[in-house]
Formats: sequence, structure tokens, C-alpha cells
Amino acid sequence: MSLLQVENLMVDYLTPDGALRAVDGVSFELKRGEILGLVGESGSGKSTAAMAAMRILGPPALITGGEVLFDGRDVLRMSAEQLRRWHWREISIVMQSALNALNPVLTMQEHFLDTIAAHRPELSNAEMLTRAAELLKMVDIDPRHLNSYPHELSGGMRQRVVIALALTLNPPLLIMDEPTTALDVVVEREILKRVLQLQKEMGFAILFITHDLSLLLEFATRLGVLYAGRLVAIGPTEIFRQGGIHPYTQGLLQAVPQLRGKREAFKSIPGSPPSLKKPPNGCRFHPRCPLVEERCRKEQPVLKHVQHGHQVACHVRT
Ligand SMILES: Nc1ncnc2c1ncn2[C@@H]1O[C@H](COP(=O)(O)OP(=O)(O)OP(=O)(O)O)[C@@H](O)[C@H]1O
Ligand SMILES: [Mg+2]
Repeated sequence: MSLLQVENLMVDYLTPDGALRAVDGVSFELKRGEILGLVGESGSGKSTAAMAAMRILGPPALITGGEVLFDGRDVLRMSAEQLRRWHWREISIVMQSALNALNPVLTMQEHFLDTIAAHRPELSNAEMLTRAAELLKMVDIDPRHLNSYPHELSGGMRQRVVIALALTLNPPLLIMDEPTTALDVVVEREILKRVLQLQKEMGFAILFITHDLSLLLEFATRLGVLYAGRLVAIGPTEIFRQGGIHPYTQGLLQAVPQLRGKREAFKSIPGSPPSLKKPPNGCRFHPRCPLVEERCRKEQPVLKHVQHGHQVACHVRT
């Protein structure tokens, strides 16, 4: 059974000038211990999809369709109390704005104790402190920083703390939404390396969200590519390493000069993503697609299996 299964998820933002569908029929699954990368340009719906699946998205967002199963349980029908018990223990998220996620007036110790006390009230204060120190060490931070305030730590250290907090209760699934974008490349690498080591040791699955496809090629088990709220390709990372099949994926990959080179993603694809207020008919990528045919302008392509578990939504390529 999948750990997380998202089927045909639809999420709208109810704006003053009407509803805007930010996630339009997105399906993906995550097995235990697997790393699924979700990639797409800014505004493609990555954060919305992840936060909706986790049920942490409030108004003006509204889940208008689909199904989310976690370990077989129906997430969209969970009560507030069920969600409270599910979050942190079984699923946690390092948010896109993680660097600001720490409360400036609380020490590291207070952050950890708040989280632990909320979910493991049976532990004594001493046990909670031991656990907090362990968690800091786990992300290579000296436990003496338990008494530090967020402003006393560097950006990289704060990000490590946020990751440790997310792992406090040993959840089987960690969602990381652009966890390292605000950091410089060297710090990003170090943190990523540590997270991947922890993932191997502890065995949690990761849903890793980024606009940086080259990064995902290095460590994701499988990859999904979002374009204007829809998945255009999903499958094993190997097919993406070989260049991908969907014209959009291919464009993204051509924009990646080399695995560890400078970030220049998306520059080689002319044009920009459509407005979700009035998306193009048919395939949403058609105005930018070098292979566009007549039916691409009219019919919406659906995901079809092409090879080795790789699915692509493209009239021309399937
Ligand atoms: N509160 C909101 N009200 C209205 N529209 C919103 C709101 N939040 C997001 N959107 C729209 O939903 C779409 C998807 O946004 P989302 O933040 O999920 O994209 P993303 O892929 O995570 O982008 P980024 O890479 O910039 O984080 C965007 O077009 C965005 O403008
Ligand atoms: Mg986002």
C-alpha cells in the first residue's frame, strides 16, 4: 500500500473576481522510504498541492475534488482532532518560508519542548530536553544552542533547526517545500547531504518540492513535473536523466547546463506560464511548445503510460 496517495486533486482559490483552479486533477503516490520530487515553475501549484494534501491550507483555498489517502486513511474526511494527531507524528512539512518559521522570542529549547509536549505529554521535562539535544545533534548543531534565540543562529543553522523540528516525532513522511532556496549553494549542499543521510538512517519518505530539476535528478526516486496546475509527466528519475519525454520536461532539462553547474533552469523555454485565471484551452503548454499540433490547442491531453512506469500528458509524444 502507498504511504500517501493523491488522486485527481483539485484546489481552487476563491478570489474576488472568481475561482482560480491552482491544482487541476493532480495524482501522485509516495511509497514508504521513497523520495518523490515535484518540480515546476513559480505558480505551477506545487505548494498548493502539497499543503492541500496535508490539509493545512485555509481560505481562500478550497479543495474542490479528489481523494487523499495516507496509509489507507481518508485524509479529506479527517476531523480536526484526527488531523492534529496525524500532523507531526506521521507527516510534517518544512515550509517554503522556513527561515522565518521560528518564533523570534523563543529559544531553540522552547521550540522543541512546545512540539514534543504537544504530542508526547507522557515524557518528563528531562526526557524532553534530552530529546531536544539529540535532535539538534542530529542536524549537526551543538546542543549548547538550545538556549539560543533564532537571531543568534545563521540562516543555515535555522534551517537545520526547522528540519530537526519536523523530524521530532519520527514521521514516516517529510514534505520539504523549497527547503534550501534562500541559502547559498554550499550551505544548501551540506544541509541536503545531511537530510539524505537521515533519510537513509531513519527511513522516512520525502516529498521534495523545488523549481530546480537538476537538484532532483541527483537524489529523487521519482519525479513529477507540474505545469500551470497540471501534472505533465511523472515517473522514475532515470527517464528524466535520459532527457525526458514531454516537450516541457525536455525544455527544462536543456535549460540545465550540467548536473552541478550554475542554475539557469527555464531560461531556454521561450514565453512564460499562463495565467490560471484564463488558462489556454487544450494542452496548457501549447503556446510555448515547439511540437504544437492542431489538437493540442483543443483537446486536453491526459497522462498516459509510455515506458517503465513513466507517464506523460502529451498528444504528440504518446
Ligand atoms: N492566497 C491565494 N489567493 C489567490 N491565488 C493564490 C493564492 N495562493 C496562491 N495562489 C495562486 O495559486 C497558484 C499556485 O500557487 P503555489 O504557491 O501553489 O505555486 P508554487 O508552484 O508553489 O510556486 P512557487 O515556486 O512560487 O512557490 C499561483 O498561480 C498563485 O498565484
Ligand atoms: Mg511554492
